[in-house]
Amino acid sequence: MKHKTLYFLFAIVLLSTEGCYYDRFNEQHPFDGYVNTCDAELADTYTATVRVILTYNCLSCHNASSKKGDISLATIQDVREYVNSGRLMGSIRKISGYEAMPPQGELRECDIQQIQDWIDAGMPE
Ligand code: HEC
Repeated sequence: MKHKTLYFLFAIVLLSTEGCYYDRFNEQHPFDGYVNTCDAELADTYTATVRVILTYNCLSCHNASSKKGDISLATIQDVREYVNSGRLMGSIRKISGYEAMPPQGELRECDIQQIQDWIDAGMPE
């Protein structure tokens, strides 16, 4: 009897710590179906990778209705335009002469590399 009570308590402790972990993960990644865009398995396409990186990091300010700096990155055409003008990579690589983006923090190096790989692949959909 005593053992059963112990196992029961142990199970409760396990379940509650897992719950905490899950909550913290969701706080850091508050998106349904969070995708780790640094996953090397993802295709070098706009849909699989670039759109996801921009959605997590940029679209809150650069969407079709709230265009900070008069810049929308909401469609693939928009993104190609800013890649071709040099401003997109200039800003995320913090090259002097460009406003560093995002304004707070920075993209992970692997995310910048994913965007570069997409550009090198010819910016496919
Ligand atoms: C918190 C809002 C915010 C976020 C998030 C944000 N931007 Fe910006 N962005 C701005 C503002 C405001 C400007 C206008 C320049 C300025 O005042 O800093 C700007 C300007 C730019 C420019 C023009 C830079 C230049 O010097 O020509 C580009 C390109 C850009 N953003 C891309 C991005 C990308 C890519 C991301 C995501 C990695 C991003 N931004 C995230 C607010 C934001």
